[in-house]
Amino acid sequence: MSNRILLLGAPGAGKGTQSKRLAEAYDIEHITTGDALRANKDMETEHGTPREYMEAGDLVPDPVVNEIVDAALSDADGFVLDGYPRNLSQAEYLSEQTDLTAAIFLDVGEDELVRRLTGRRMDPETGDIYHTEFNMPDDEEVEERLVQRDDDTEEVVKDRLDTYYENTEPVIEHYRETGELVEVDGEAHPDEVFERISEIVDDA
Ligand code: AP5
Repeated sequence: MSNRILLLGAPGAGKGTQSKRLAEAYDIEHITTGDALRANKDMETEHGTPREYMEAGDLVPDPVVNEIVDAALSDADGFVLDGYPRNLSQAEYLSEQTDLTAAIFLDVGEDELVRRLTGRRMDPETGDIYHTEFNMPDDEEVEERLVQRDDDTEEVVKDRLDTYYENTEPVIEHYRETGELVEVDGEAHPDEVFERISEIVDDA
């Protein structure tokens, strides 16, 4: 059976960066609720639009997000799941849908998270992620078209981190208690983080 990897971590811990590499290396789907919601920001639901929640740094209501995950999981053989579950009720929902090969937590301190998020830039054409200090493209044309995510401003980042501590830390604790969680130093170089995650997946 293909790998079913869960990547957990705070906003800015490197989930997107590592998921992209894992999806390529293991030939599995990258399932990310964040990207799916960004692509459907103005979709009308009975709970309002995702945009209202995302721009306030709040969680989008469970029924909207669960539906996205449900559809993505049923289409995927193997996957790396990024940005879900973010609260205990989503974790319960996930456990009813599928088993996991590995649940990996990228551990990064708060100062580093803020630095990473406020400096993050995205290439709208390829989806590639860069950083103003650590990692900018060599190609000037690419550099000029980079954009900042609406929720990467200092103010929203603070709210996203508060939401994480309140809702998602209990999820990390849950996987720690079930014995499924493997912790990785997310402050290491991206290549080292990737190497460590690959070892965990290969040993699982
Ligand atoms: P989402 O898109 O999931 O954002 P997030 O969890 O806040 O995570 P990020 O994408 O910001 O960070 P990341 O860990 O992927 O970091 P990255 O690799 O880019 O969610 C956005 C919003 O959608 C939420 O606030 C919520 O409203 C809603 N939402 C999503 N899922 C939901 C759910 N399940 N339920 C309810 N609502 C939901 O890295 C960050 C930066 O650091 C980059 O610049 C990168 O280049 C750099 N970097 C990465 N790794 C390293 C490293 N090792 N060393 C140095 N720099 C690094």
